[in-house]
Amino acid sequence: MTEIITAKNLTKSYGGRMAVDHIDLSVETGEFYGFLGPNGAGKTTTIRMLTGILQPDEGVVSVGGHASGDKQKIAELIGVVPEGRGFYDWMTAYEYLDFFAELYGLAGAEKEKRIADLLEKVGLTKRKNSRVGTYSRGMKQRLALARALINSPRILFLDEPTLGLDPQGQEDIQRLLKDLNKEGITIFLSSHLLNEVSNLCSRIVILHGGRIVANGTLAELRLKTHLQDATLTDIFLHLTRSL
Ligand SMILES: Nc1ncnc2c1ncn2[C@@H]1O[C@H](COP(=O)(O)OP(=O)(O)OP(=O)(O)O)[C@@H](O)[C@H]1O
Ligand SMILES: [Mg+2]
Repeated sequence: MTEIITAKNLTKSYGGRMAVDHIDLSVETGEFYGFLGPNGAGKTTTIRMLTGILQPDEGVVSVGGHASGDKQKIAELIGVVPEGRGFYDWMTAYEYLDFFAELYGLAGAEKEKRIADLLEKVGLTKRKNSRVGTYSRGMKQRLALARALINSPRILFLDEPTLGLDPQGQEDIQRLLKDLNKEGITIFLSSHLLNEVSNLCSRIVILHGGRIVANGTLAELRLKTHLQDATLTDIFLHLTRSL
């Protein structure tokens, strides 16, 4: 396996308060990588640095072999479902995807096919001409996922994609992510749903106070914490008690 994402010494502070504190990360090609941590641990800040939205104070990032300065090359390789995304509520799902498809330079029959395939994949074909403002949260999240896939990325970053969804909505997104990973897409998932993470992720990293406090498979985390038979929730609570 080869590394598709690496970060060394990644650091970011806001007004003197350390948000991400000299962390090293490495994600293998094809991995389903779970990125956990309590509120304020630094997950979103890290994802923003890995995806080129935020400039680190220190450290280096490489995505698909490209250094973080090579924004265009990285943008071609990645899809992002960001935290707290906003939508253009007046647009229909079709118009929304069409807008982003054109931003990525798609046109003509290829563009139409990509949009139609993605609408089908996320179960929105029938509602493609409804305004996004009329969508349920689950539908909006599935549309956000379709948008992130518009450029056929090799790596997908998702920052709490199931936040606020009912069990069916969570299951829909989880099934889609599982299928995408089977198709070979590397997935970097941040979530507070520990069941979701233990079911989906081949490796789990826990961030706490801007530092990595655990990194491994669930079995490895159990060994390291000496918590046999523990659930991921037990391990998470054990490792993220007050600093
Ligand atoms: N734009 C900003 N300006 C100032 N401080 C910020 C900013 N963004 C994040 N922070 C601070 O950086 C720290 C890490 O925040 P971050 O959003 O990365 O955490 P998180 O792990 O994503 O949390 P959550 O689970 O709540 O989404 C927090 O202390 C937060 O208050
Ligand atoms: Mg966050």
